[in-house]
Amino acid sequence: MELGELLYKGKAKSIYKSEKDDELISCFRDDMTAFNGEKKDCFSGKGAYNASVSAFFFNYLEKNGVKTHFVKMLDERTMVVKKLQMIPLEVIARNVAAGSIVKKLPFKEGQILNPPVIITDYKDDERGDPSVNDDLILALGLLTSSELKEVKETTLRINKLLYDFFDELGMVLVDFKIEFGRYKNGIILGDEISMDSMRLWDRETKESFDKDVYRYNKGNVMSAYGKVVEKIEGWKKEHLK
Ligand code: ADP
Ligand code: CDP
Repeated sequence: MELGELLYKGKAKSIYKSEKDDELISCFRDDMTAFNGEKKDCFSGKGAYNASVSAFFFNYLEKNGVKTHFVKMLDERTMVVKKLQMIPLEVIARNVAAGSIVKKLPFKEGQILNPPVIITDYKDDERGDPSVNDDLILALGLLTSSELKEVKETTLRINKLLYDFFDELGMVLVDFKIEFGRYKNGIILGDEISMDSMRLWDRETKESFDKDVYRYNKGNVMSAYGKVVEKIEGWKKEHLK
């Protein structure tokens, strides 16, 4: 399948037209950015790592009854997805306090958040992705109240599935960001689920295996991402015989 016209070049992925009107091609690039694009680098192989992890989780979620945009992989960094009308919200689930929540509120880094906390940020780089509460989501017309309820419930379901999955691998899913979009008459999961969009700690040592390694110069980001890929490959060998 050939890549069609480039429709959008984001910070980490490029979105192309596909041969089918209701599908797009999402190419995971090696570019890495942090702090709203202030820090920028390129790591050979990063796109393929994130694409493979995203594809794995989209399949895993589908098997567990969560609808996603994933169609198939074209190559190691390129996937065919259903074309969604994206909802400009970053839906963040947090199981442990880290990152912005610790800077903005009196939480201690590492504090357990049980029940998990959902935070919604309005996706707008120029405004710095401001947090929006339920009333603002309704007032902005981003979702209806029943859609908002559904998005939150689905996020909690995804969180439980991913948290338990990583727990089995000896890792703690601290937090992650997902995006949803409209498809036909429903709302389904889009974008990606990768080390770029989550915080993942070793359960014992609390070592990071995610973008924080890059954000805060904690070590070699490719070897951190590679460890997650390796663990998932190990899990697949055990479970998908
Ligand atoms: P950003 O826009 O934050 O820089 P990316 O580089 O990841 O992010 O770009 C991917 C873009 O594609 C995002 O804007 C995302 O909302 C959008 N997107 C993801 N999945 C789909 C989809 N299935 N249909 C349409 N747009 C999508
Ligand atoms: O990353 P930062 O501390 O700035 O923001 P956060 O609100 O603490 O991020 C919570 C989680 O969402 C982290 O896992 C981020 O990697 C992820 N996130 C993301 O993927 N994209 C964003 N634009 C913002 C957050």
